[in-house]
Amino acid sequence: MQRKDEIDFLELLKNPVRLFGLSYFYFLTVAGFIGAYYIWNMNDVSRNGIAPVLLRDSTQFVQDIPMQRGAMIAPVNVTEVGRSSKALIDKGANLFKANCVSCHGDNGMGDGLSAASMTVKPRNFHSAQGWKNGRKVANMYKTLQEGIVQNGMQSFNYLPAEDRFALIHFVRTFSNDFPVDSLSDLQDLERVYSLSKGSQLPPQIPVKLAMAKLQKESAGDSIYVGKLAVSIASKKQDEQGAALVQQLMNNSTKLFTAALSTKEKNLDEFISAVSIDPVSVGFKPAVVRLSREEWSALYLYLSKVSKEKNS
Ligand code: HEC
Repeated sequence: MQRKDEIDFLELLKNPVRLFGLSYFYFLTVAGFIGAYYIWNMNDVSRNGIAPVLLRDSTQFVQDIPMQRGAMIAPVNVTEVGRSSKALIDKGANLFKANCVSCHGDNGMGDGLSAASMTVKPRNFHSAQGWKNGRKVANMYKTLQEGIVQNGMQSFNYLPAEDRFALIHFVRTFSNDFPVDSLSDLQDLERVYSLSKGSQLPPQIPVKLAMAKLQKESAGDSIYVGKLAVSIASKKQDEQGAALVQQLMNNSTKLFTAALSTKEKNLDEFISAVSIDPVSVGFKPAVVRLSREEWSALYLYLSKVSKEKNS
């Protein structure tokens, strides 16, 4: 008898459809692996599709707000300080040394030490070229108020208005072709900035710094909470308030936050604040069954304890 191979390849050539039957399992397995691989990696597939900027949260500001000192801007009479005088120019010369020479240079040529590294060069006050806001007193006041921040000219809105006029009159000594303001130019300035009323500039600090400060403060709180937990646990129970706290405390951290709130609340407010949801402020629910006298002992004890915070 002639032995026949299990697979007769010549036979296959004549009837190629049989090939499919034989390789079917191979394709099935491969397709299965590809499918599984896709599903295992589905998380990454979709994550790659999101632009990185969407994954940032709002605490990572690309550009933070600048540090700013608060100031009371004293009122001025525009028609007076808007006109040059020897006193204002002398005052302006000193202010210029302190605030402007680093960029604009000793002689206002725009060649101060910091100028070298700046892409937009500080203004050369001797030249009429390239001024953005303009060269009148009113124009320069706007520059000092708002700055041209994107190009490195900061805002000097924290300087008293009179100092800013002094600076402007000094700047205008660098050349004798500065245009003169009409009365209505100065009156416009008054209308826009209400200079005769003065103003108040709230202090502001960058968000990053504020968050660091908050973190530091709350770190102080948690140290205090820890210290208090130890001190309460070690106190003898002869004091009624201390005993009540030990008996009714559910969560020490929350409870001490409640203790701190005794500073702002009187007994009745404290009772109703705690009774609304005892667990969320660190007490066991049983606290609502206290008598008024016990509440009072509890309140007195917690407010005493919270005063120890700063000692
Ligand atoms: C950190 C550098 C820097 C300091 C400090 C600085 N300036 Fe400037 N200043 C600039 C730059 C840069 C420009 C040009 C901005 C532009 O062309 O957009 C400019 C432009 C000006 C202009 C022209 C605005 C315009 O209309 O084009 C005036 C006026 C001016 N500064 C006044 C002052 C005075 C007054 C002080 C000090 C109180 C001062 N600057 C301090 C960098 C500075």
